[in-house]
Amino acid sequence: MHSVRQISDKLYYIGVNDRRLELFENLFPIPHGVSYNSYLLMDEKTVLFDTVDHSGSAQFIENLEYVLAGRTLDYIVVNHVEPDHAASLKDIIAKYENVQIVGNAKTFTFIEQFFGSKVNQHLVKEGDILETGEHKLTFVMASMVHWPEVMVTYDITSKVLFSADAYGTFKALDGGIFADEYGGFEDKFLKEARRYYTNIVGKYGLQTQKLLTKAKGLEIDIICPLHGPVLRGEDIGFFTEKQSTWSSYTPENPDDIFICYASMYGNTESVVNALAMKLAENGKKVSVMNACNTDTSYLIAEAFRCGKIVLASPTYNADLHPAMKTFTEDLKAIALRNRELYVIENGSWAAAVAKKIKEVADSMKNMEVKAVLSIKSSKVDEQAFQEFANQI
Ligand code: FEO
Repeated sequence: MHSVRQISDKLYYIGVNDRRLELFENLFPIPHGVSYNSYLLMDEKTVLFDTVDHSGSAQFIENLEYVLAGRTLDYIVVNHVEPDHAASLKDIIAKYENVQIVGNAKTFTFIEQFFGSKVNQHLVKEGDILETGEHKLTFVMASMVHWPEVMVTYDITSKVLFSADAYGTFKALDGGIFADEYGGFEDKFLKEARRYYTNIVGKYGLQTQKLLTKAKGLEIDIICPLHGPVLRGEDIGFFTEKQSTWSSYTPENPDDIFICYASMYGNTESVVNALAMKLAENGKKVSVMNACNTDTSYLIAEAFRCGKIVLASPTYNADLHPAMKTFTEDLKAIALRNRELYVIENGSWAAAVAKKIKEVADSMKNMEVKAVLSIKSSKVDEQAFQEFANQI
């Protein structure tokens, strides 16, 4: 059965939900699902904005045909070629042979690479205008947010921004299309938006900042992203401010402390618990996560949120515990910066944790190890512990 929602006079949401997929990109757990958003403008010309993942293709085509109601499809604007948004393109082109594909030069290179398709190209560059009847569309290049070909499309007539991966979030849509139908973006979507941004786009902070600067010059009433809810009203400003914070690698909560630990037999964990209590007693806001049983995407999101990070690990093969190694390498890969680091190293005979974490920190920007607490097995020097806690 079709499932569509009208967004404004001529614009429709025709995307699909995925609550079956366990790992987005075969990597990130999505316990609350994800939506693949697509939009259809029913002007004098009909315009589709992106398609969906192949898993939702049948539902998507049903939605598209329902809204088209016998009309043909004139244009498909491809803002992003990643297959979660473009995998259905081939099916749609097969149905509407004369459809013009609107994209930039890289869009068409990628379409051919991924789908081997020759398409009717309508090539655009920054600032070009496509008139579809009443509506005028213009195109803003957003390379590396999150792939090189990414662009966003602005409907000048209705002040709608089709923002591609920007303003995206994990989490399927439960019927509501607008974030404000859920009682506000912060309560319902912020955690998954943070996890989406920091893990998927986090490395490309500079490019995101560039796009946000360009978007400042546009008057925007509605934002239609490729994942998650459509934004309007105060949700636009709220999410823009969050994306600006994340993309500038500024901690959302500079004084909050994130303790991330690995522990083999519970000795390191015991010190972590004592530290968390001591910090809370000192009036600090603390979160604690076990790197050994928490997916790294949650650790990354928390590291973006907090200004202070405590890393606690036993020494393992003269290196970090593998779970801590994965986390710290991911922090580096995603280019996090501007955090204070505190290290608890456990080494029953040849401690290597502080040295290894300092090596990683030194290869990152403005990531300084402020203090180290060394423990041996379960043996902790009480005075050193107190001094360490007081420095955080
Ligand atoms: Fe949801 Fe970069 O694609």
